[in-house]
Amino acid sequence: MELKGISTAVTGGASGLGLATARRLVDAGAQVTLIDLPNSDGEAAAKELGGAAQFAPADVTDPEQFAAALDVADERGGLRGLVHCAGAGRRMRILDSDGKAGSVEDFEFVIRLNLVGSFNALRLGAERMARLDEVDGERGAVVLTASVAAFEGQIGQINYTASKAGIVGMTVTAARDLASRNIRVCTIAPGIMDTPLLARLREDVRASLEKSVPNPSRLGKPSEFGQLACQILENGYLNGETIRLDGAIRMAPR
Ligand SMILES: NC(=O)c1ccc[n+]([C@@H]2O[C@H](COP(=O)([O-])OP(=O)(O)OC[C@H]3O[C@@H](n4cnc5c(N)ncnc54)[C@H](O)[C@@H]3O)[C@@H](O)[C@H]2O)c1
Repeated sequence: MELKGISTAVTGGASGLGLATARRLVDAGAQVTLIDLPNSDGEAAAKELGGAAQFAPADVTDPEQFAAALDVADERGGLRGLVHCAGAGRRMRILDSDGKAGSVEDFEFVIRLNLVGSFNALRLGAERMARLDEVDGERGAVVLTASVAAFEGQIGQINYTASKAGIVGMTVTAARDLASRNIRVCTIAPGIMDTPLLARLREDVRASLEKSVPNPSRLGKPSEFGQLACQILENGYLNGETIRLDGAIRMAPR
């Protein structure tokens, strides 16, 4: 798919991996709608990216709000590319230090945000793409965001791991389900990326994280995520696959 001139949407677009992806898409000549929470920096981010970008506030877990935000993107010539980055973790254990069972609420919160949010992105994004005419044999593509925690979740990530493994599991099913509409679906599973969350870490903690990455021995750049997301949108033969973007890291138990 040619990125120049198409309408795309990036969830979680106000920060980190989403913002870096939006920047790449604008550089490639796409129209980009940043979808993020109303209290995020989305408005300022869109302004900084210039006239090809706009902000549409929405919670990705809310069907009505999210559909309305995708409609704003759709108005810029029909939504053809959706990169879904919105997500987060919330540390929890199966048993706390006193042996008390972990909270179902903490488990459900992260499943709802990451997994139900991804399904919402798939269904509402695909609904809009399916209405479009084919260009070069396809109508659109969706990129979801998992994590290496889907494969080697650490202690304290039981809810996050379950949500991200669910996204990995959905990927090939989604690609098969949407094949008859000529819509592709891939997932990126990032390792440790240098986003605002990690910028707050102590220098020694950061150095030890960097050492844990075999090659290159550093954190991933958000722009490297954006580069891969754009390549997935562009490359018409990439489909149904989860791609690790992680410098060959395999996470230790803690
Ligand atoms: N940074 C990493 O090292 C890393 C590693 C693996 C996976 N990931 C995944 O990448 C994605 C992006 O992470 P990031 O590091 O860029 O985080 P970030 O916190 O910098 O950005 C996430 C954005 O999502 C938005 N968001 C959160 N909940 C939302 C909701 N309900 N509706 C709409 N927007 C919402 C936030 O406002 C924020 O702007 C997440 O899914 C995360 O799990 C990140």
